[in-house]
Amino acid sequence: MKIGIEAINFYTSHYYIDLKCLAEDRNVPFSKFYHGIGQEKMAAPPPDEDVITLAANAAFAAIQSVDTKKIDTVIFATESGIDQSKSGGIYVHHLLQLGKNCRVFEVKQACYSAAAGIQLSVPYLTLYPDRKVLLIASDIARYGIGSAGEPTQGAGAVAMVLSAQPNIVAFDKDSGIFTEDVMDFWRPNYRDEALVDGKFSIKMYIKALIESWQQFSERSGRGFADFYRFCYHLPFSRMGEKAHIHLAKYAGKEEYSNEFMMSQIIDTLYYNKIIGNTYAASMYIGLLSLLENSDEDLAGKRIGFFSYGSGCVGEFFSGEVLPGYQKFLAPEQHTKFLNNRTEISYEKYKEFFTYSIPEVDGDHRTPKNETGLFRFAGISEHKRIYQGLL
Ligand code: HMG
Repeated sequence: MKIGIEAINFYTSHYYIDLKCLAEDRNVPFSKFYHGIGQEKMAAPPPDEDVITLAANAAFAAIQSVDTKKIDTVIFATESGIDQSKSGGIYVHHLLQLGKNCRVFEVKQACYSAAAGIQLSVPYLTLYPDRKVLLIASDIARYGIGSAGEPTQGAGAVAMVLSAQPNIVAFDKDSGIFTEDVMDFWRPNYRDEALVDGKFSIKMYIKALIESWQQFSERSGRGFADFYRFCYHLPFSRMGEKAHIHLAKYAGKEEYSNEFMMSQIIDTLYYNKIIGNTYAASMYIGLLSLLENSDEDLAGKRIGFFSYGSGCVGEFFSGEVLPGYQKFLAPEQHTKFLNNRTEISYEKYKEFFTYSIPEVDGDHRTPKNETGLFRFAGISEHKRIYQGLL
């Protein structure tokens, strides 16, 4: 029996800034961002967009071709949740009008949590092959105006329907896992922006990759040459390149040319370069970028996945692309959607970024912007109000 992705879709904010604006403001060459970290544009969500509306927009399209009565589990993976108690998934479950016989919960471990969602869903669906899991990863990456991390912000969501009737990717059984208690990136409850030790976080990412790979290859018996493409967690696209070069040197049996190594990851980078870090969602936006931009038919090819969440947990796992997967994707719509976004100025971005909801009770309405089919309309009696524009 194969368990994997039956349907998948992503969504990001309608608004972005070009990192050339940020470079101009900081008086640094824009090549530092375009080439040094490999990022060109950064999604900049307005006040009436949050992880719930991003998630609902991603999931709405993902479930259109699915028998939603069979979804009995919604897993909401995020590190930028909107409530300390209630799962963001319940708001999305309501907005999508899913059935009431459904368990809904939120998972958190920095950018890693959606991979945990996959690892727990695969054995669950093996036991109950008639059921489906809706796994949503949705995040808004915030480091703060003027911080070193600012050019690596972003926002977006991915929704995947996982089931025993996969159309796109079937996951393999084995994975390799690594955990270590480190402070490379964290966000205390009293802060809206993450704290980060940037250079250390890069070192920990690479360490977690190599350690996870070691266990993965021992458990699975698979080697580097068994993989055609690799999808990495992408906090910025050059991180994927750095990671892949390290893995190729460590696990490969020969010296590979840069051209060859880049060919194994390049298609995964396009969407992230113009969206930014989407934390828990980023690796799966990378997967969609690969499947929708590759010139080749990838059916039957094996993909390696490395998910990293600061703090930290890493996991290497794998999957095979399924025949006919192209029929279940929407590359033209995604390209059109990304090209039709609105570029905003650095000033407008700062206005969006610094907007805050008053903590005092009252009837607070958010200003209206383009947010797709769903919007965060405001707060009343400390309750968030969402509108579906269907
Ligand atoms: P920085 O100090 O601004 O940049 O921080 P830098 O000085 O290190 O420069 C970056 C690169 O640009 C360097 O290349 C420079 O040489 C190059 P490298 O040496 O790395 O190959 N450069 C130029 N290139 C072309 N033209 C120029 C030029 N100038 C310099 N003119 C840093 C960069 C990524 C550390 C910072 O943005 C940051 O702290 N970001 C946030 C942390 C992060 O993304 N960490 C990644 C690993 S941890 C992770 O992935 C988890 C995470 O997603 C969170 C989670 O799990 O929840 C973050």
